[in-house]
Amino acid sequence: MNTRLKNDLQDIVLFLVSSIVIVLMGASVAVADDSKTYEAEFTADGELIRPSGWREWVFVGSPLTPNSLNGGTAAFPEFHSVYIDPDSWAHWKETGEFREGTMLAKELTLVGATAATSGTGFFNGDLQGFEIAHKDSTRYSKDTDGWAYYSFGHKPEPYADTTAAMPTAACAACHTAAAADDMVFTQYYPILKAAKDAGDDGAGVGGKQ
Ligand code: HEC
Repeated sequence: MNTRLKNDLQDIVLFLVSSIVIVLMGASVAVADDSKTYEAEFTADGELIRPSGWREWVFVGSPLTPNSLNGGTAAFPEFHSVYIDPDSWAHWKETGEFREGTMLAKELTLVGATAATSGTGFFNGDLQGFEIAHKDSTRYSKDTDGWAYYSFGHKPEPYADTTAAMPTAACAACHTAAAADDMVFTQYYPILKAAKDAGDDGAGVGGKQ
C-alpha cells in the first residue's frame, strides 16, 4: 500500500472512531437526563432529605403576608415562593391531579425594601426558610389525605439537610380546613389554576390563544 493511501485510511478510521465516541457520549448524557426523576428520599430513620435543585422546579406563586398588614405579628411575615417538582407539574397539566409523590416547595424571603424606582411596595429581601409538602398515601395517614409537611428551618441558609414530618396540628390541620384542591392552596397559585388539566395550552407553551 502506498504511503498516501495508508495515511488517508488512517484519517478515515480516526474520524469514524471519534464520531462513534461523540455519538455514544451524547447518548449517555441523553439517557441520564431522561431518567431524572423527582421522588422524595428519606434517611433510614424516616427523615425527609432536602431535595436538591428546587429553585429550578416550576414556579407557581408567591403569596405575601407582611407584618405591616398583620398588626406587626404575622406567623410568616415573608414572601412565600412556591414551586412544584417537574414530574408532578407534567402530571397536573395532563390530569388536573397531584400525583402520588408530589412535592411542593415553599421558600420564604423577607420583605426587604418598601420603595424602589418602580414605586412604593414590597420587595424581596433575603432568603428566610424552606418547607416541603409531600403527598404519599402509603406513607402518611388518611387523616391528612396522604400529605405530610416538613420544615427545614424558618431562618436564613444553611437549611437543615434532613427533617422529620411536622405534627398534624402544626401544619396539616390548617391545610385541611382551607386549601382548595387536595390539601394545596391552588386558589392562590394562578399558574396551577391555568394549567390544571389544560395540557400545554394552560402552561403557555407555544403562546396562548
Ligand atoms: C394557619 C394556616 C396554616 C398553617 C398552620 C400552615 N400553613 Fe402551609 N399554607 C397556608 C396557606 C394559606 C398557604 C398558601 C399561601 C401561602 O403560602 O401563604 C400555605 C402553603 C404551604 C405550602 C405550599 C404548598 C401548598 O400546600 O399550598 C407549603 C409547602 C406549606 N404551606 C407548608 C407548611 C408547613 C411545613 C407548615 C407547618 C410548619 C404549614 N404549612 C402550616 C396555611 C397554613
